Amino acid sequence: MTAFPKLFSSFKIGSLNIKNRMVMSPMETHLCDKEGFVTEEIIAYYKERALGGVGYITLENTSVDPAGRVNDGMLCIHDDKFIAGLKMLTDCIHVVGGKVVLQLSHAGKEALPYYTGLKTVSPSAIPSPLTKEMPKELTIEEIKSIVNKFTDGAERAVKAGFDGVEIHMAHGYLVNQFLSPESNIRTDDYGGDTIRRSRFAREIVENIRKQSPKDYPVICRISADEYTDTGLKPEESKEIAKILEKAGASAIHVSACNYASAFFNIPCYYLEEGCFIHLAEGIKSAVKIPVLAVGRIMNPAMAENILKDNKADLVVFGRILIADPYFPNKVKDGRLDDIRTCLSCNRCIESISDKKLVCTVNPYIGKEGTSGLKKTIKPKKILIIGGGPAGLSAAHILSSRGHNVSLWEKESQLGGSFRFASMAPKKEPMRKFLDYLIRQVKNTNTKIQLNKEATTEAIKQFAAEVVVLAHGAKHVPVEINGTQRNDVLNVKNAFLSADSLGNNIAIVGGGPEGCELADFLASRGKKITVIEMMRVLGLGLVAHPRYHVRERLNKMGAKLHINTKVTEIGHNYLVVSRRREPDQELEGFDNIVIPTLHKSNTALAESIRTIVPEVYIAGDAVEGRTALEAIAEGVEIGMKI
Ligand SMILES: Cc1cc2nc3c(=O)[nH]c(=O)nc-3n(C[C@H](O)[C@H](O)[C@H](O)COP(=O)(O)O)c2cc1C
Ligand code: SF4
Repeated sequence: MTAFPKLFSSFKIGSLNIKNRMVMSPMETHLCDKEGFVTEEIIAYYKERALGGVGYITLENTSVDPAGRVNDGMLCIHDDKFIAGLKMLTDCIHVVGGKVVLQLSHAGKEALPYYTGLKTVSPSAIPSPLTKEMPKELTIEEIKSIVNKFTDGAERAVKAGFDGVEIHMAHGYLVNQFLSPESNIRTDDYGGDTIRRSRFAREIVENIRKQSPKDYPVICRISADEYTDTGLKPEESKEIAKILEKAGASAIHVSACNYASAFFNIPCYYLEEGCFIHLAEGIKSAVKIPVLAVGRIMNPAMAENILKDNKADLVVFGRILIADPYFPNKVKDGRLDDIRTCLSCNRCIESISDKKLVCTVNPYIGKEGTSGLKKTIKPKKILIIGGGPAGLSAAHILSSRGHNVSLWEKESQLGGSFRFASMAPKKEPMRKFLDYLIRQVKNTNTKIQLNKEATTEAIKQFAAEVVVLAHGAKHVPVEINGTQRNDVLNVKNAFLSADSLGNNIAIVGGGPEGCELADFLASRGKKITVIEMMRVLGLGLVAHPRYHVRERLNKMGAKLHINTKVTEIGHNYLVVSRRREPDQELEGFDNIVIPTLHKSNTALAESIRTIVPEVYIAGDAVEGRTALEAIAEGVEIGMKI
């Protein structure tokens, strides 16, 4: 008996029987080839998600028109030549008991001509908010032709064995561009009031409905609120949903935003969990067909309540299924502690702007099917130095594979620099993930020693066959006149001693650490000044959290100086210089925080190479980077020893 009976009750959309109420959101992977054909990698990726127990998968954004391709990482279905590969994919999903719906898409003015070599198109000649590229205004004839391309795409989807199609009418893509008063200012039959702006969407649904098998699911994904001043609002979206229902839509999948509000579309950790549920609830009050809710829903109890409170009929999960494909089965079996939680860090969406999908916490993306742990036939005595993400990841895998693992951590707690990074506001997902990593290791036979300094002598005495050095970077203060003073603080100490700091604090360096410390201290009521020499604050953070942390700092009244170099640090004052301006003194600070460089830390490795047969280095000890590299390297070492 599951603790989430609603979530694990069956459901039906048209001819699609769904074993539970959990749907995988469409998410581009860039695992297809450059021409948009299915690859073995993409098949393995989706097969693993089907095995993980989700009710049905919505296959990513697939282009119905070469001119509607966002870039060369987008799957295609604009020609019959794509059917065979897609059929292989659906077969592989069906064979393991999964169901799969294809998302049909045309990016309109958000397609990138750099990749397509074609002029972008849109209902009106209004530039893309992102690229500023001016699209060509579509003629009536061209509109009809694109309606046919969607219909042809759906016909091919049926031939390729998909259990349904979802029309991408959201996120600022072409159909959304027609629906929205922000991007559609036509004065003919395809523009004007709600009915006219909905005509393109309606014709697509009607045509697909006419040509598809009876009850074939045709799901419409809309942005019920575009979160812009002049875009679609929830009330008008209810009218649109009714029009789509009448046209023959089988269900409405309620998302939000367009390219102008893209920092809200895939809600990062600064936004609330379940932040679009109210939109689904609104649409549900307007239509009789099933409604799907999406948007940072990662907690099964929240999902269960959405269904119990009748706010939606199905719950859509995106990034949590990138992070952990087995999320549905784990929820079903009550193994909540085993869920590899998603950080909502949005490294995934940033990765696919020009590369294959990556995930901070899941290094197996694109390598699905190889993640099974092989027991070792020759267990070794292994010592891991450092209990941050790299060391913990390696320890978990090596122990699980049957090695005899000890882990030394010089601090009194596990977590390494990740623990400090997760102290900043809104970073609960990082704290949860760290707890998950620690739990995973504690469930193995790893012998953990805290407060244990790893000297060459101690390592020699321990006599391990293998040492994995995951002891973090060497922290070196930046070279500015005054950083050697003993009245300055580094970022870590500032986090740890926040309550004893004065009220007026200067933070030198507005990179990721500086911004997050500023947020941490400003949230405690401190008066903050950040001085950054680059022209962008938070460089190194993923774009979405970078946008939100800056917004937060602005709202809290932090003084943010960019293009400003600190040339001297004194007692309670800083001398700063800006191009073409005389040097200036900023004074009156109670505390000054200086940045540290995270340098490669290999001295210990050199000193033990002659006394330990096998030595590996992982994470920041190689070079200061992010948790993604640390976890990936820890896992890789764990697999290969
Ligand atoms: C890597 C990535 C790729 C995405 N690609 C698509 C896509 O192809 N089509 C689409 O409608 N939404 C896309 N989205 C948005 C998701 O479908 C979903 O709406 C969003 O991630 C919020 O859900 P979540 O909070 O459960 O992740 C993408 C999101 C991510 C993270
Ligand atoms: S990259 Fe970050 S946001 Fe994306 S799935 Fe992985 S943990 Fe979640």
